[in-house]
Amino acid sequence: MKVLICYFSGTGNTKKVVDALSEQFIKNDCDVVLHNVENKLDKNLNDFDLIGIAYPIHAFNAPPIIVKFVQSLPKLQKQKRLFIVKTSGEPLKLNNISSGKIKRILQKKNIILHNEYHYCMPYNMIFRHSDSMAYKMWTTASNLIPIDCKEILTEKDVKLKYVPFGRFLAWVFRIEHWGGRFNGKKYKVNENCIHCAKCVRDCPTHNIKIEDGKFVFGNNCIMCMRCSFMCPKNAIKIGWFNGWKVNGPYNFNNPEGTTQAKHKNFCKHAYKKYFDRCAKKIKENSLDSVC
Ligand SMILES: Cc1cc2nc3c(=O)[nH]c(=O)nc-3n(C[C@H](O)[C@H](O)[C@H](O)COP(=O)(O)O)c2cc1C
Repeated sequence: MKVLICYFSGTGNTKKVVDALSEQFIKNDCDVVLHNVENKLDKNLNDFDLIGIAYPIHAFNAPPIIVKFVQSLPKLQKQKRLFIVKTSGEPLKLNNISSGKIKRILQKKNIILHNEYHYCMPYNMIFRHSDSMAYKMWTTASNLIPIDCKEILTEKDVKLKYVPFGRFLAWVFRIEHWGGRFNGKKYKVNENCIHCAKCVRDCPTHNIKIEDGKFVFGNNCIMCMRCSFMCPKNAIKIGWFNGWKVNGPYNFNNPEGTTQAKHKNFCKHAYKKYFDRCAKKIKENSLDSVC
């Protein structure tokens, strides 16, 4: 089976999930092509049996770069099966609606959603999760991925439940797509900057330039946070949202990593429900494989 996974990942969480999923498809004798939507697609969708879209949730929606990408796809003659994979910092049910828009666009192109999976991964904005939480999130996701991959390959449909008025709420939050552009112009670098220009090279929309030795942020920011999250000197201020900035990659391998009491109660019940639900699925599937 030939699988095409088209993904966007601002700061690496979604890519980590995509790589693990791709490994599982390969283990199951599939040919996998990964396509980063920052680049032009040079593949013919008709050549694939299965199409996947993966993205980080931004304000309860798919990021604009993903919406643009799916809009650019051609209408297919023959129906194709689609799976969607998304990552987000918290497990609120409202996140489920984030695929609503792209699902409708793709349906018109004969690419039909059959499986949808949502993995909690640490926040790259709002606040920094502890490394122990990052470890827990990643261990959970990596235990689920082989099970979810099997579901996709055995054509067991899995859909996420949408909350009432979710479509309306997602539409309201889509203001982030426009707000991001305005806010992006307010980004600044501070005196810690060493002019390594990593942010310039890595920006997915080429929105950062150096002119006369000064950093210039254009109006094409999609708020993926790659520049400020990955900045080795934590030198980028992210406009109105600077108080929500998270800087520096997570260590996913440290179960004892710092716990931040400040956020101890944030979405506590939603996280508990998420981890309980995932543990149940992992346990049921390990029992199935024993039987
Ligand atoms: C602009 C922005 C908006 C976000 N909105 C949400 C959200 O609505 N819900 C959520 O749970 N996480 C949200 N997050 C967190 C990311 O979805 C999460 O950290 C994700 O795993 C990042 O993936 P990436 O590293 O592939 O970019 C947001 C992050 C950013 C930068």
